[in-house]
Amino acid sequence: NWTTTNVVEEQVAAIRAQVGDKRAICGLSGGVDSAVAAALVQKAVGSQLTCVYVDHGLMRKGETEQVEKDFVAATGAKLKVVDAEKRFLDALAGVSDPEEKRKIIGREFIRVFEQAQLEILQEEGPEVAFLVQGTLYPDVVESGGGTGTANIKSHHNVGGLPDDIEFQLVEPLRQLFKDEVRMVGQELGLPEEIVQRQPFPGPGLGIRIVGDVTKDRLDLLREADAIAREELTAAGLDRDIWQCPVVLLADVRSVGVQGDGRTYGHPIVLRPVSSEDAMTADWSRLPYETLAKISTRITNEVADVNRVVLDVTSKPPGTIEWE
Ligand code: XMP
Repeated sequence: NWTTTNVVEEQVAAIRAQVGDKRAICGLSGGVDSAVAAALVQKAVGSQLTCVYVDHGLMRKGETEQVEKDFVAATGAKLKVVDAEKRFLDALAGVSDPEEKRKIIGREFIRVFEQAQLEILQEEGPEVAFLVQGTLYPDVVESGGGTGTANIKSHHNVGGLPDDIEFQLVEPLRQLFKDEVRMVGQELGLPEEIVQRQPFPGPGLGIRIVGDVTKDRLDLLREADAIAREELTAAGLDRDIWQCPVVLLADVRSVGVQGDGRTYGHPIVLRPVSSEDAMTADWSRLPYETLAKISTRITNEVADVNRVVLDVTSKPPGTIEWE
């Protein structure tokens, strides 16, 4: 029978059997999935695990600090932080096709991990043979790996892996849905801020800019996203919505009037959704006052943005992310 205790015990045993006395590395994304996967592996093989956090420059405001502080405090795991912003931005320069972006980000992730592996090898000796990933059941299904359904998006942690990958994968969450992952996280003693965290995609803000990805656009989107999150939290809506992608339409401009005159700026899209498992979703009926506050603040505080629009599409037909 399904209990979180059983899941933890089973997975810990399976991880011990798979990893043996080898070493594993786990990429932390700041999200609940990778954190719970890492905590499971940490429980199973302890110091044989090294966590790697790749700061790819596509993170939201404050995210890196949260991983460095909260996760390490909760698990005692070894953490190596790699600053790879320039590398990712160089690789993404001029690329606007969503699948292309996902492939590039997935590929660079693996490259950075391979480099981290070499460094860990030099520092610690024994071979790093396993890569821990927080792949969930819906990721497996949507990438065509589970039931043979068509490949909808190549999620960077499944279909976007390059062919010459050098690691064997450890995917302890492969059979779980998000709510189950949260329960397992709780069972493992992870703090509330991590366990109740709303989902955020591995490719980060890179797939929330419609158009090519630049540092300026990322900074702009980071500001808008931080405002939306702040106001949603202040309104007590975090538990009501599954997640709220904030999207920059970098290739779209519209006319506005701000301050002394005419502007020609970009729209920001709010995409609040409610969902059970991300396979389907409905758009969240947020209170008008909250939407008004977010809209006013974003247009006042974020340069180059003169319009905020609300996405009222369910999934299907729209996916949750815009890319
Ligand atoms: P879509 O856009 O396919 O998103 O409706 C479903 C859920 O998956 C998240 N998502 C990702 N998560 N790597 C991830 O770890 C990815 O490449 C990725 N793409 C989408 C998305 O935020 C939503 O929760």
